[in-house]
Amino acid sequence: MKNFLKIVVIGLFSLSFLYAGLAPKVYPQGGVGEMVKLGEQIALHTDTHPLTKDFVGNKLNCASCHLKGEDGKPGTANGLTSWLDTATSFPAWSKREKSVQTLQDRSNNCFMRSMNGKRLVIDSKASIAIASYITWLSTGKPINMNVKGPWGPTNTKLWPTGIKHFKPIQKKATHINYVNGEKVFKSKCAMCHGQDGKGIAAFPPLWGKNAKGEWLSYNTGAGMSKLDKGAAYVKLKMPLNQEGSLSDQEAADVMLFVNAQERANFDLAKGLLPKEEMGYYNSNVLKEKHSVRSNFKALGLDIDVIRNDKKIK
Ligand code: HEC
Ligand code: HEC
Repeated sequence: MKNFLKIVVIGLFSLSFLYAGLAPKVYPQGGVGEMVKLGEQIALHTDTHPLTKDFVGNKLNCASCHLKGEDGKPGTANGLTSWLDTATSFPAWSKREKSVQTLQDRSNNCFMRSMNGKRLVIDSKASIAIASYITWLSTGKPINMNVKGPWGPTNTKLWPTGIKHFKPIQKKATHINYVNGEKVFKSKCAMCHGQDGKGIAAFPPLWGKNAKGEWLSYNTGAGMSKLDKGAAYVKLKMPLNQEGSLSDQEAADVMLFVNAQERANFDLAKGLLPKEEMGYYNSNVLKEKHSVRSNFKALGLDIDVIRNDKKIK
């Protein structure tokens, strides 16, 4: 049994290196090329770019999670959260929205959740530019619409495997795992993400607020805020340049600790623009709320017991 698990984990890893492939090297010509380049810039500087800064409620960029590959472009790193084949699977079914989603809809979900912000207008320059860039990354790949989830082929293979793998580990968590998670954080993450989780220079924040009271990182509706998804990501992608060095338990415990810290609550209504401005919202689910507490409860855990205090709401 132990050996089997080992094989599964080693498999998960090697797959994460193999999946996806290479980014194209030459930009398309003319107006399309201009849009692709604009989308790339927005994905690198989402929180400060004039076309998107008002739609971002934290200090992250798309590239904070959709990591840069060797070419320095956002989303071209192989494996989990890669964008290299993402566009091939859209339009795709979304269980969460109970509707068929376009690539622009899917990106907007990261604006509302991972970026703690608001949905872009679908016909806006920024939304078209991001879709152009992500679509360009799938140049030459066959369309392969996903009837089960809003994920490209790479992420369809890696996310569910990772979630299934980490869910049973996270469900068994106690305060001891929280304490261990804090230890892992201090020894293996804090040198880049800061002792207080607020990030250092180009190293992005993981939780909390700045001195102005602004939220710094993803909210409680983001994939990263879910204990099992967060652990799967960190296992495969962090610590940066030492990916895969954490044991499963370390990855699970460090994200138990990180996701037990303060972050913005997700309320779907707050991520929508006024209807006259936004236009049609392509979702059959119009109400959704999450908190740190509810994210722990989703795995049968009580945040007060895990933290051994009552500081978090
Ligand atoms: C805090 C991390 C984080 C940030 C920042 C982030 N994303 Fe994501 N994104 C994710 C995760 C995790 C998933 C997949 C898991 C899920 O569906 O919850 C995802 C999935 C996606 C997908 C689907 C990709 C596929 O093939 O599965 C798209 C498209 C996407 N994000 C676009 C964006 C855009 C555009 C931005 C910037 C505006 C952005 N994301 C910012 C974490 C992030
Ligand atoms: C060597 C520096 C370094 C170390 C060590 C490191 N990270 Fe990161 N991490 C980064 C960088 C850089 C990014 C964003 C990628 C980018 O901007 O190119 C990132 C992104 C992330 C993200 C997604 C973005 C966000 O801010 O939410 C998470 C979650 C994360 N790291 C967790 C961890 C955890 C947990 C550890 C410890 C096990 C860790 N990291 C260790 C450098 C590091």
